[in-house]
Order: sequence, then C-alpha cells, then structure tokens
Amino acid sequence: MKLKEGQELRQSRKAEHLAAVRDLGDVGPSPGFSDVALVPSCAPELDWEEVSLETTLCGIRLPSPIIINAMTGGHPEAEAVNRRLARAAKRFGLAMAVGSERAALTNPDLARTYTVTREEYPDGVLIANMSLNTGVRDAQSAIALLDAQLLQIHWNAAQELFMDEGDRRFRGGLEALREVCQTIPQPVIAKEVGQGVAAPEAIRFVQAGVRAIDVGGSGGTNFLAVEAWRRGERLDTEWQGWGLPTVVSLGEVLATVGGQVDVIASGGVRSGHDVAKAMAMGATAVGMAGPLLRLLAQPEGDQKLEQFLAALHLTLRRILLLTGSRTWQDLQRRPVVITGASGQWLDIRGFYRFRERLARRPLNP
Ligand SMILES: Cc1cc2nc3c(=O)[nH]c(=O)nc-3n(C[C@H](O)[C@H](O)[C@H](O)COP(=O)(O)O)c2cc1C
Repeated sequence: MKLKEGQELRQSRKAEHLAAVRDLGDVGPSPGFSDVALVPSCAPELDWEEVSLETTLCGIRLPSPIIINAMTGGHPEAEAVNRRLARAAKRFGLAMAVGSERAALTNPDLARTYTVTREEYPDGVLIANMSLNTGVRDAQSAIALLDAQLLQIHWNAAQELFMDEGDRRFRGGLEALREVCQTIPQPVIAKEVGQGVAAPEAIRFVQAGVRAIDVGGSGGTNFLAVEAWRRGERLDTEWQGWGLPTVVSLGEVLATVGGQVDVIASGGVRSGHDVAKAMAMGATAVGMAGPLLRLLAQPEGDQKLEQFLAALHLTLRRILLLTGSRTWQDLQRRPVVITGASGQWLDIRGFYRFRERLARRPLNP
C-alpha cells in the first residue's frame, strides 16, 4: 500500500513538474551568457558548406552539439511529450535524455512512457537517467529499458530539500556512483539539475569515474521555484539566486577537469549564441530542457519546436563561419572574453589563468 502511494505521488509530481515549468518559465538571476563574448573574424577564409556542427560526446559522434535534456517519463502525459521530443531529436540528429526512470523500474506498466523514445528514434543516441544513490542493477535496468548509449546520474539535493516528500539522505552517493562507473560499460554523466557543479565536486565526480559532467547551472529552469509552485508558493529572491550560474559553473568545471572528461553546458541555454559561447569556452555539448517543453505546449507546438531548432542550428553555422571556424575545435582556438560578474567570480576563485587563457588564445595557433 505504501509503495502504491509512493508511485502515485511520483506520477502526480512528474505531471506537476511539466505544468510548473510551462507556467513559470525561467526563475532567478541570469545564467551569465551576457558576460561571454566571442571574437569574430572579418576574414573567415571558409565556405558555408565547409562548416560542420559535429561533436563527439564520450566517444560518440553527434551531428549537433544540442542534447534534449532529461525531462519526463512515468505518467500518462509523458508518453506524448517524449514521443514528440524524440521526433524532433530524430529530425535534427540530437541526442536525447529521458526523465528519471525510477517510475518505470518500480512499475513496469509505465515503461512505455520512456521506451516511446526508442520506438520513434531507433538509431538515435538516447541517454538513460537515474537519481544519485542508484545502484548498479537499477542503472543497468535503466539503460536496458531504452537501449541507451549513455547514462545520466542526476544530483538534485537542493530540489529534494524543497520537496515535502523529497529525499533527506545523501550519504553514499559518490560511492554508488563509483560502483556504477566501474561496472557498467556505458559512459556515465554526472548531472546537476539547475544549481550548478562547483570545482570540488567536479573533481570528486571525475575520481568516481564519470566520463562527462553536465554542469546544470542556475539561470534557467529552477526546481526550487518549481517545488514552491507545487505548494502554491513563490520562491523568495535569495533562494532564487541559489547556485552557480551556468557560465560560472562551466568555468569552474572546465578549469579543473576540462582535459579529463567531457563537459556539457546546461541550465538557461536559450539561443544559438548561448550554445556557441558555451562550446567556445570548451564544452563538448549543450543541454536544453524547459524552453523545448514550452514550445511544445503552444498551438502547433511540434512545428514551433522544429522552427526553433532549425533557427538555432542556422545561428550556430553563422557563428562558426563568422569566427573563421570550420569546426567546434577551431572555435575552441579562438579567443573568448569573459567579463562582468562571471569574470570576477572566476578570478577571485583562482581561475584567472583559465579566463586569461581563453581571452588570449592565439589567433594563428
Ligand atoms: C519538466 C522537467 C522535468 C525534469 N526532470 C528531470 C529529471 O527527471 N532528471 C534530470 O536529470 N533532470 C530533469 N530536469 C532538469 C533538466 O534536465 C535540466 O537540467 C534543467 O531543466 C536545466 O535546463 P533548462 O534551463 O534548459 O531547463 C527536468 C527539467 C524539466 C523542465
């Protein structure tokens, strides 16, 4: 009986998350992309057709750096949302993650709300998703359910504390992560959900054996605000600002473990310019969640989502060409200037060499 109540609670929570994210939009201070500037090239020496948006994430080649990040599964509405997201992912060759698969592992009747992604996108790169403290067997089941190529383990302590029914036990999370990384063949991504990863935790994730870190910084979807919304409350301003803004988190993680694992930028990424800035800083891929859901919720949402993604990829090509970059690797040899609050944060935290290295990248390496 208790288990049943838990399942029902999880289902209604997941449905409420969709409603809250559609209703609320982004909550809190900016993710920091306005502090980041690329340095254009007025003599690109490139033709339009030469530009390539391909990237390689954990050894997997992707035609685009965009990941449709983890959102849903585990309740009736999720099936249609995941189906529509998977169709868009297929159309643009995007990698796609599903929401936490705990619901399907607890109640196999709900498996379809996730597996619909594989049905729609048989050849796609799909990313399984589980919470921190997931053991090896559950991690394997989550991957098997989707035949996923990658596994995200999400870290959402702040969100849990803002949920009445949320977890209060976080001990052992890193040890569980280590066991999963050591046992399963698929690459594991440690992922925040909107409060950002700081340098010390990035180091611990790498020591545990992850192949990538998704910084999940603040400035976009804010799960503390989402949980307040579920209680009919408004999140106070101080908690709205809790966490590391995405640009700052990206800087901390790239500066500390950038050469060792792939780094995914997410949290408040809203435009092609944001994507290009994150990639120029050194990200391997970029995740987006909330805005895609809001586009789908509009009349003719599938078309709106497709138009948005087409425009975004056009912007990426334009930016690559206008910085004289045929590939993302070329862009990562161009200077990037980080100023404002993000620049100050990185300096005072001791990452000034990272910031300086980016700004002084040689034009002709
Ligand atoms: C409706 C919704 C549900 C989400 N559920 C999950 C989840 O189950 N697991 C997870 O790792 N992240 C989840 N996220 C977090 C996103 O993957 C992402 O990290 C976060 O929304 C920040 O990106 P954004 O600002 O582009 O929305 C969810 C996001 C949304 C919008």
